[in-house]
Amino acid sequence: MTKVLTVIGTRPQFIKAAAVSRVIKEQTNIKEVLIHTGQHYDDVMSEIFFREMDIPKPDYHFSINTSTHATMTAQMLEGIEQAVIKEKPDIVLVYGDTNSTLAGALAASKLHVPVAHIEAGLRSFYMDMPEEVNRILTDRISNKLFCPTSAAMHNLEVEGLNTPDRVVVNTGDVMYDAALYYAKLAEERSHILHTLNLKPDSYLLATVHRAENTDNKERLASIVAAINTLSKQHKIILPLHPRTKKMLEQFHLELECTVIEPVGYFDMISLIKNCHMVLTDSGGLQKESYFFHKYCITLRDQTEWVELTQAGCSKIAGAEKEHILQAVSDFYTKPFHNGSVFYGDGNASRIICQYLSSTS
Ligand code: UD1
Ligand code: UDP
Repeated sequence: MTKVLTVIGTRPQFIKAAAVSRVIKEQTNIKEVLIHTGQHYDDVMSEIFFREMDIPKPDYHFSINTSTHATMTAQMLEGIEQAVIKEKPDIVLVYGDTNSTLAGALAASKLHVPVAHIEAGLRSFYMDMPEEVNRILTDRISNKLFCPTSAAMHNLEVEGLNTPDRVVVNTGDVMYDAALYYAKLAEERSHILHTLNLKPDSYLLATVHRAENTDNKERLASIVAAINTLSKQHKIILPLHPRTKKMLEQFHLELECTVIEPVGYFDMISLIKNCHMVLTDSGGLQKESYFFHKYCITLRDQTEWVELTQAGCSKIAGAEKEHILQAVSDFYTKPFHNGSVFYGDGNASRIICQYLSSTS
């Protein structure tokens, strides 16, 4: 029996873990213990995903102070260390690139417990992003590195991390597993189109939450100006992340579009499937746009999901108003072409489970 201690704490990690935990539950040779670090804590950023997506109730759920990166990470480290000492897992499983990811990997590594990293190898090559630091450090101390794409595998090769003492494998992307599985349930359970009185293909979907956009007044103001200009012509639905809400207030900026509370995953899938186009700085949403055959305008200066830009399915527009408007205009009437398979076949979680339970 392999005992896996999973560490999650943010919205995208709940969604990824839902896909993997569902497969773990079917295995007779893996037992999962779950830690929720408490990094995200509002009902609409946390509990809603556990309820809707049938994620097991966490065995440990910390309450942390999210004020600064170091304080937050330090508080998580303390809690995770205690749990690792008590549970004596065979392996600690972490997801993505958040502070919860790094805390989980670091706590385990210091106790000589092997670390498995889902979404290994992604790089933006922009060290000012907290996520870039988290993912580089996590990959360096991980023993099993599960890459979602061939670009991620390539990055690990270049960094010299694909060594015989590590498992480095392209498993496909667990977010694709999640999208395929939960899209069926979303059809039955989401009523968001009805609630917001939306017709399919009649609106653009936007999200913004990355620190490099929200915490920079000039960039945030420029994105807001682009959205406000676009909303004179198009209906725009924008589920507002709490970080962005706080920063809009601080900078006295106002969005003139349909701003809604963050939504659960079923509603989000329904909003993506039925929109005309996506504008986002979210990592997850860039791919989900592709999964559901929508163009994505990426409100960042670089992306980890390079295959999408290379294939012409998404466009890097940064935060410049004129670039964003131009990108919308370029994509607006173009039919979506979905030729290649970049993210596996929907079985990433199963492949990961096989590697989790094997000793090599
Ligand atoms: C974090 C991740 C980011 C990821 C995002 C997913 C890090 C460094 N960043 O960013 O990579 O894309 O999660 O959404 O780990 N807040 C609330 N309620 C909540 C959660 C947050 O009010 O439930 C507010 C808090 O004031 C907090 C701020 O949002 O200070 C930012 O939260 P934090 O977890 O620090 O970073 P995110 O921007 O959510
Ligand atoms: N998401 C959601 N509700 C929302 C906004 C996003 O369920 O109101 C989902 C989205 O579909 C994707 C994930 O959350 O699966 C992405 O999370 P986020 O954008 O917060 O983080 P990132 O992927 O950028 O790390």
